[in-house]
Amino acid sequence: MFTKWTPMVVLAAALVAAVSLPMQAQDGEMAAPFGGEEDVAYAGKVWEAMNGYRNWKLSTPVYKGQSPHGAYVRLFSTYITVEGEAHPIIIKENFGGQGVSAEVATENPDEWLKAVTIMLQREEGYDSDNDNWFWVKFSPTGEVLKNPMDMKLAGRVAKGMPKGCIACHSNAGGDDYLFSNDE
Ligand code: HEC
Repeated sequence: MFTKWTPMVVLAAALVAAVSLPMQAQDGEMAAPFGGEEDVAYAGKVWEAMNGYRNWKLSTPVYKGQSPHGAYVRLFSTYITVEGEAHPIIIKENFGGQGVSAEVATENPDEWLKAVTIMLQREEGYDSDNDNWFWVKFSPTGEVLKNPMDMKLAGRVAKGMPKGCIACHSNAGGDDYLFSNDE
């Protein structure tokens, strides 16, 4: 029995090694693909560069979203400049609470805003496996929120895990990580 299964065990070990390689930082230290100091610092710069997004011309009305983003959502998009480079960004405002509706969230967005989730496309090579998207979940005041494992939701969230931004968005039609352009 043991000899029969040995090749499987070796194969499984090789797979695990291959999967964990991208998580190895260049200096040899283990680094998670998201939630690190650099990710949070970059997220802070993104938040600053997003300032005034409610006045951007490219936006949707408030509409009924699908779980897990909130009962009602509103999208905004443009290019913003972070660290001297222009990047496309899509912002989603997520509204909720007892009595929320498209009307009240449109009239008084601050009162119903629960979170601001963003996707910003970074430079080539940032995350080639996933179209180089940088993901963040902000509180309404721009703090980076955490997942139940106490990891900050900024960066390649949650690369290699079965749930999270990347896993779910990789199911979007057109293989582009975007749901809003699907039928
Ligand atoms: C379980 C699936 C799922 C997870 C997990 C998820 N999303 Fe989404 N996301 C959606 C769906 C569905 C939409 C389409 C709009 C809607 O109905 O809310 C969407 C829309 C978006 C959009 C607008 C662009 C688009 O795709 O149309 C952004 C930005 C976004 N999500 C960011 C995030 C971030 C950041 C995370 C992780 C913190 C995340 N999402 C996790 C399902 C998910």
